[in-house]
Amino acid sequence: MSKTMLEVKGLTTKYVTRFHEDVYAVDHVSLKIEQGKSLGIAGESGCGKSTLALSLMGYYFPPLHYMSGDIIVDGKNISGMDPDDVRKNVLGTEIAYIPQAAMNALNPTRKIHKFIEDVILAHDPKANKKDIYEMAKGRFAELGLPLEALDKHAVELSGGMKQRVVIAISTILKPKVLIADEPSSALDVTSQKMVIKMLRDMMDRGFIQAMIFITHELPLLYNVTDDIMVMYAGQIVERGSAKQMVFDPVHPYSRGLMNSILVPEEGTRDVKLTAIPGTPPNLKRPPAGCRFAERCRYAQPACRYNQMPIIDFEDGRTYRCGISVPELREIYRKEDEANAAQPTEAPTDGPVRLTKGV
Ligand SMILES: Nc1ncnc2c1ncn2[C@@H]1O[C@H](COP(=O)(O)OP(=O)(O)OP(=O)(O)O)[C@@H](O)[C@H]1O
Ligand code: SF4
Ligand SMILES: [Mg+2]
Repeated sequence: MSKTMLEVKGLTTKYVTRFHEDVYAVDHVSLKIEQGKSLGIAGESGCGKSTLALSLMGYYFPPLHYMSGDIIVDGKNISGMDPDDVRKNVLGTEIAYIPQAAMNALNPTRKIHKFIEDVILAHDPKANKKDIYEMAKGRFAELGLPLEALDKHAVELSGGMKQRVVIAISTILKPKVLIADEPSSALDVTSQKMVIKMLRDMMDRGFIQAMIFITHELPLLYNVTDDIMVMYAGQIVERGSAKQMVFDPVHPYSRGLMNSILVPEEGTRDVKLTAIPGTPPNLKRPPAGCRFAERCRYAQPACRYNQMPIIDFEDGRTYRCGISVPELREIYRKEDEANAAQPTEAPTDGPVRLTKGV
């Protein structure tokens, strides 16, 4: 049986703004990732992806506050641990986090090998700087990164190289779980592919044991992760295999996300690009019932006041909706039939091709 690398149970965190308002950005999130597996997290801007990533490190400082839940990394519960203890014994070794836009946050006046020194010395203050440099050289060689990059400043590197270097720095201590927040956003397609290839190589070679990859682009995850989880307004609305989530999402929000792109691959249809109308709710006052109800075309009166539990479906996925999967599928089938009868306009954005492997 495979080993669970990360298990999260009912994690709930909030921001407290300087006006003392609570923002409920992560609400009762539970998930599991097995050794050697990767999980993608997708959802619109503001749905809580980055806050979940931050919360998973168990290292809280204002305005982010822990409220409840467990974070268990390779059998060790890190929630409730002293922040100093987390910094010394968890960050970088148990969990490493690459924040959104991390590559732009590198201090431009320091050489790359100095950042590696910082990470290692924070963990082992007695480490020898020469040894650290040699170790960094070895890791760069293993990852196919040019050794001369170690003696360059961040500003001297291209965007794609900078991002790969950031990944190498963050994983220098071979963390069990790597959380990468939008690591390939803002990169050109070639650099994006190189970053994704590097992350996959690191998984294959055991430099990391499990990975969370965050993006607002659901189809990109099809190339990268085993499973995909969709978040909406701080909650998980659906999780399944990458294939299920991309080609057969059942939650109305996941389906809405997928229908906003084209899937021109064998076995799928071309669909009209449709944005999800409306905007996510204000997380200072989240709705009492289903958080998607305001925007859901299938909402029923009960959806607005009933909290929807997460349900396990027989095909292995989990979802949060008051309508059963067979009923949802029947609704979608009828919609597709009606749409097929209507002439479709050519999309202006060009197709998004979904092919496993980059
Ligand atoms: N420092 C903060 N203080 C208060 N609220 C915050 C803070 N940071 C984020 N939020 C709020 O928390 C919610 C979740 O934001 P988060 O950044 O986690 O979303 P996201 O899914 O990562 O979005 P994006 O795709 O734009 O990166 C949003 O309502 C956001 O406005
Ligand atoms: S619970 Fe109701 S409002 Fe929410 S997604 Fe399902 S049908 Fe839509
Ligand atoms: Mg984010």
